[in-house]
Amino acid sequence: MGKIQFPDDFYWGTATASYQIEGAYNEDGRGPSIWDTFSNTPGKVLNGDTGDVACDSYHRIDEDIELLKGLGVNMYRFSIAWPRVYPHGSGEPNPRGLDYYEELIDKLLANGIEPFVTLYHWDLPQALQDVRGWENRATIDAFIAYSETVFRRLNGKVKRWLTLNEPWCISILSNFIGAHAPGKQNMQAALDVAHHILVAHGLTVKRFRELGIEGEIGFAPNTEWREPYSTRPEDVRAAALRNGSFNEWFLSPVLKGSYPQLLLDYYASKGYELKIMPGDMEIIAEPIDFLGINYYTGSLLRHSPGNDFYDSEEISAYFNKTGFDWNIYADGFYNVLTWIQRTYCDIPIYITENGACYEADIVDGKINDAERISFLRDHFMALHRAIESGVPIKGCMVWSLMDNFEWAYGYSKPFGLVHVNFNTLERIPKASYYWYNEIIRNSALDV
Ligand code: FCB
Repeated sequence: MGKIQFPDDFYWGTATASYQIEGAYNEDGRGPSIWDTFSNTPGKVLNGDTGDVACDSYHRIDEDIELLKGLGVNMYRFSIAWPRVYPHGSGEPNPRGLDYYEELIDKLLANGIEPFVTLYHWDLPQALQDVRGWENRATIDAFIAYSETVFRRLNGKVKRWLTLNEPWCISILSNFIGAHAPGKQNMQAALDVAHHILVAHGLTVKRFRELGIEGEIGFAPNTEWREPYSTRPEDVRAAALRNGSFNEWFLSPVLKGSYPQLLLDYYASKGYELKIMPGDMEIIAEPIDFLGINYYTGSLLRHSPGNDFYDSEEISAYFNKTGFDWNIYADGFYNVLTWIQRTYCDIPIYITENGACYEADIVDGKINDAERISFLRDHFMALHRAIESGVPIKGCMVWSLMDNFEWAYGYSKPFGLVHVNFNTLERIPKASYYWYNEIIRNSALDV
């Protein structure tokens, strides 16, 4: 048996997000977010599930930190709920919201776990959505004010910050496809949102520097790898359009200061307009310290006129699937990481999410989620290949510490290393938790 060894100073962690785990939706002054509204709208979330209680992590800091300690991670990525800090999106901050996160961070630090903080993982205060949310440039100002409040309060304790999680989901999935809050189905709105969140990102990075906040800042786009089905020019173009709309649309403005031309032309040909104000592109390209990369899946793609917005079709039958029916494509992970380095630069990368959904039964109190272990093993190998190829990858956060509220799928899609019983809130570590603990202890993988 061989061994693949990760760097000694590698960060191994797990990731979560506020609305997916916290619960306590109306406690200590928290205001409603767009996800409270969405999940309480019949038909939007499977089984009518909401995040009202979720994993109840708001009340279980100690228990969850014990789980992290037992796992052996040296980093924990979580997000701050904007509506806990500004219940109405702007105005006066709510100190009790900030107290909660400071307590969590202090306890993580006391246990040798570095906090990795996301400022926006989708729970926009509803009050801001009431005035057009991210379609309205005023939301950018509210975000900067919120970020500044959080920076000032937590400065010195947090060394790594992320502005946005998954801008593709915030814009296209939520405003064109309509599957996530606020559930709009309008491409122009989605493109406006995409641009505004990038401006919000750039201005926040700028503010971070101006305030002299300690540590590093980046953002966490989701990436996928679409491989052309064949070398036919139509298939190659189809894959370029989809990779362009998913990956480059968000990476290129931040890392190069421009939107990808292929997509600019494509959207213009469909009659959409980009509302770029003078100075926006420079703001968006404000240099960041590192990139967060979320990766789950990819596909083969071929040209198929009229099949979808980009005239393309996925050939998914080629792949084995996770419990979410997502294609398992570990080579795509390697492709994305090496492509980023080739296309952009040698920017340090943290894998801010990677993991898989699988159902597994409890047998005699134990949960043998062998499929998750196999998924993670393949993806860790892809990651290691990228490191060996010279991509500066600094750490990896597995999604997720525990089963949680999986957005439009409610509690039906378990991604956790730890099982959560959503009736009793009891947590049970799965086999993958113990397997990951072994990897972390050696920073190595037997192959
Ligand atoms: C990502 C989200 C995360 C989680 C995983 C499964 O798109 O960032 O919150 O839902 O998918």
